[in-house]
Amino acid sequence: MKFISDVTEKDIERASQALFEGNLVAFPTETVYGLGASATDEKAVNRMYEVKGRPKGHPVIVHVSSPERIYDWAIAIPDFALELGKKYWPGPLTLVLKRSDLAKDFITGGQDSVAIRVPNHPIALKLLSKFEILGGKGVVAPSANLFGRVSPTEASHVNDDLNTFLEENDIILDGGVSEIGIESTIISCLDQTPLVLRSGLIDPKSQFSLEFSLEQDDSNRTGLSRLKFSGNFGRHYAPNAEINLNGIAKPGDGFIALRSIPTPLGAIRISSPDSEKDFAKILYESLRRVDCLKLKSVTVQLEGKSHISKVIEDRLKKASFKKT
Ligand code: TXA
Ligand code: MG
Repeated sequence: MKFISDVTEKDIERASQALFEGNLVAFPTETVYGLGASATDEKAVNRMYEVKGRPKGHPVIVHVSSPERIYDWAIAIPDFALELGKKYWPGPLTLVLKRSDLAKDFITGGQDSVAIRVPNHPIALKLLSKFEILGGKGVVAPSANLFGRVSPTEASHVNDDLNTFLEENDIILDGGVSEIGIESTIISCLDQTPLVLRSGLIDPKSQFSLEFSLEQDDSNRTGLSRLKFSGNFGRHYAPNAEINLNGIAKPGDGFIALRSIPTPLGAIRISSPDSEKDFAKILYESLRRVDCLKLKSVTVQLEGKSHISKVIEDRLKKASFKKT
């Protein structure tokens, strides 16, 4: 595997060629790092699943360089989906649409739908457009971590997790720290009204005049059981340490809270974000550091009632879901 920092135009060209030839390329996006494979190359996609240890049948997101590319992958696209794409792409939004013939079972988990997104990161966008110029159709990219574990927001995280599984011609592109730090908002556009399957920084309810059928509450997810999406698989985004959300920190606990909140006696301060947005950005890196320090548990103090605060809470709840 080649780890490339200070990525140049030439490096991106080389990486797009590597993808086109069936190798894996981990690349930065504004949300988290993705582990890319050509979306029409079954062999490459299978290896991506193996490297991540991701169960077969858990569908992946197709990444493309521009909104027009969705017509390759999807059919019967409703107007509201086009509007969402127009408003938020490139950006941290994923749309689930009825699939075209191009989207095969090996990327959709056998479902009749496909997830698609245009990421907003200069390296990702250049990589995708160069790949498309070569004749590639799209790049599937799950978060570049081991399945079920904390997503990577830096290239070194990808290296830590996947280095032993990647092969000689695979590449990791280092594009610095992911600006947003949590995965994209996923919206299903399969029915009359959009449905949020995974929350993220974008909160279309507040910014978009759409009637949303929003079932964020897990208990309310009946009708959704036919869909495979994050959260339907139990524990996710999890560090080794136990997460104590809004509880009282014990001595020796890691402690993550806004800068304004003092560290409880005996707790070990891990990070002090300045805002809720910053909280999202540092969250995964902080959880990884808790594990590096081999702490048994980490207390996360999260008091805000804002959208972003709820998104962070959603991720932490999934991360603390107990294995049974
Ligand atoms: O921000 C992101 O979305 C990152 C970056 C790399 O783009 N990617 C990411 O991929 O988070 P992943 O594979 O870790 O999560 C994708 C989620 C999965 O939980 C999957 O269930 C859901 O997207 N998904 C994919 N295809 C779907 C489909 N056809 N229907 C419903 N959910 C789908
Ligand atoms: Mg993931």
